[in-house]
Amino acid sequence: MSSAEPSRLRAFAPAKINLTLHVTGRRADGYHELDSLVVFADCGDTLEARLADTLSLSVLGPMAAGVPEGPENLVLRAARLMDAEAGAHLTLVKDLPSMAGVGGGSSDAAATLRLLSRLWGREVPVDVVSLGADIPMCLSPRAQRVQGIGEHCAPFDGLPELPAVLVNPRVPVATPAVFSRFETKENPPMPDTLPTLATPRDAARWLATQRNDLEAPALAVAPVVSEVLEALSDADLARMSGSGATCFGLYPDAEAAAGAAARISAARPDWWVRATTLNGPMPSE
Ligand code: C5P
Repeated sequence: MSSAEPSRLRAFAPAKINLTLHVTGRRADGYHELDSLVVFADCGDTLEARLADTLSLSVLGPMAAGVPEGPENLVLRAARLMDAEAGAHLTLVKDLPSMAGVGGGSSDAAATLRLLSRLWGREVPVDVVSLGADIPMCLSPRAQRVQGIGEHCAPFDGLPELPAVLVNPRVPVATPAVFSRFETKENPPMPDTLPTLATPRDAARWLATQRNDLEAPALAVAPVVSEVLEALSDADLARMSGSGATCFGLYPDAEAAAGAAARISAARPDWWVRATTLNGPMPSE
């Protein structure tokens, strides 16, 4: 992270993509046990912070409509978890859709914790999973296997960079609505040891043997997910991320991904479409 002005810092909040999402059980408190291979995209939101007397947030950017600037925003809740009184002005530029399965709010909260830890000289709080199950995995945006309800995150080095297209049909999907339609049964986890996958095609081939168990319940909540998967049918693998409705398509190279993104954008100008690289370098902060 670098900045000309030490009192003004910037962090990147990348889209989180679940390449797999196995729902392996349900806890007594209703939360679900997961086994998920997670990567991050090189597209996402950006956050800036500067010291101020009080804590405040402005939300800008193409996906800002409807995002609250008040204390309910996860950015301000994360800041208050770190320090109940310190002041900062935060500016969030939203490029990720909300309620979309790409962890936008969680990635924003994690970026806030990284940023304010520098600005305020505070430690990142230990109990971030209480703010949101996806926040721990977003604290270090890199490929990882995530288990428990999201609190057990183990780095995974066996993936190449993955050229991809992300598509969201601009229909918000509430995560609890999808989990509540999930039939409670124990689905198998991923294998204990994950294979090392050398090329995007190898990755797509192996990932096709795994699942997103939330796809079926998400289709019941948002039938448009099937149109999104259909739009990505020329990909080596097309699958939903998280609880939807965003789906990703994996392509053999960046040119093929860019071509697919252009075609889908032209056919569905109302959809959010991004050509991206998953598991590549993050834009510098
Ligand atoms: O933790 P977060 O606020 O992101 O979760 C939203 C909702 O999604 C939870 O209230 C719960 O209904 C569901 N959920 C779940 N199991 C998880 C994560 C989320 O059942 N591992």
